[in-house]
Amino acid sequence: MPATARILPFPQAGGTSAVVCGLGTWVPPRVVPNAEIAARLDTSDEWIHARTGIRERHVVDPGMATSDLAVEAGQRALKSADTDRVDALVLATTTPDRPCPATAPDVAHRLGLDRCAAFDVNAVCTGFLYGLASGAGLIAAGVAEQVLVIGADTFTTIIDPDCRATAAIFGDGAGAVVLRAGSASEPGALGPFDLGSDGQDADLITVAAGGSRQRSTRRPAEPGAEFFTMAGKAVFRKAIFQMAGSAQTVLRKAGLGLRDIDRFVIHQANARILNGVADMLGQPVDKFVRNIDQVGNTAAASVPLALDAACASGELRPGQRVLLGAFGGGLTWGSTVLRWPELEAV
Ligand code: UT7
Repeated sequence: MPATARILPFPQAGGTSAVVCGLGTWVPPRVVPNAEIAARLDTSDEWIHARTGIRERHVVDPGMATSDLAVEAGQRALKSADTDRVDALVLATTTPDRPCPATAPDVAHRLGLDRCAAFDVNAVCTGFLYGLASGAGLIAAGVAEQVLVIGADTFTTIIDPDCRATAAIFGDGAGAVVLRAGSASEPGALGPFDLGSDGQDADLITVAAGGSRQRSTRRPAEPGAEFFTMAGKAVFRKAIFQMAGSAQTVLRKAGLGLRDIDRFVIHQANARILNGVADMLGQPVDKFVRNIDQVGNTAAASVPLALDAACASGELRPGQRVLLGAFGGGLTWGSTVLRWPELEAV
């Protein structure tokens, strides 16, 4: 397995840090409990809950797209940051409204952020971490003073409705933060980051059609070729291994130890994966925030939705040191640390 790419400690000494100053989330109103999935597929509420920790998820109705969720979350994050201006919008998503153009410019336009830089990032379930690093990089490079980073996905739009292994897991949602230029000593300052990938295992999580490998023709793609597929068991083991390894790497870069972390907010892929990461790191499971029971796996929205849930429940409080981490298709993984700031609840 290739070692995680070496990335210089971030920010460079004396450089500008990206500081989290707003948080907003949104999930579509329709709630699908396990029983609704069990009513049409060969599965049960007991199996899904015992094997994944999920009880229900939010699902978009036909006609609702990723941008609709991203706009709602973005609006709330801007309000929380008390701003109506950003220099860049980074949208992490694997379920864009369409393959071309990127979804971010449309989201920016609908948020009244015309003329700001806007682009999509696709790192599947690690998207939000890659988005944060991109936003922080724009700030550190002096390209932007404020950046809106949104993680939004509607995986239920690409799931094979007859596949019990994936239909039981995924839900839809969006979460966003506003980053502003600040100093590394401030609460909310992000970094360092650890980001990595392993393309040898690209086939473990895929959508076969819709890209250049299967070129566009006048005939529709093979039936089912546009559905999402995942080799669950292999991914499960790698998710634990890589998220635990990335957490250790980022802590080393930060000069921190595991005991310095008050809360771990990591990708909500499976409750057993959260337990596995806690176990591998030798950390108590109650330091790991979990909202997977209510939202399922929401891909790029997972980490900000978990952050919001933890703030609402009081599990995450200003001043606490939090480690963010994720793992997803690509394969990709990433982590960062910050001291949680005082934010305006919206
Ligand atoms: O978000 C990015 C990364 N994604 C992840 O990290 C997800 C990682 N993977 C997982 O969370 C788990 O592998 C799953 C939840 C997808 C599956 O759970 P598992 O405990 O790993 O099950 P498995 O794939 O080993 O399958 C065990 C059995 C199989 O039946 P047989 O072949 O033993 O007869 C599956 O067909 O469980 C079956 N199965 C189900 N049974 C009832 C798979 N899904 C279901 C289901 N209901 N929904």
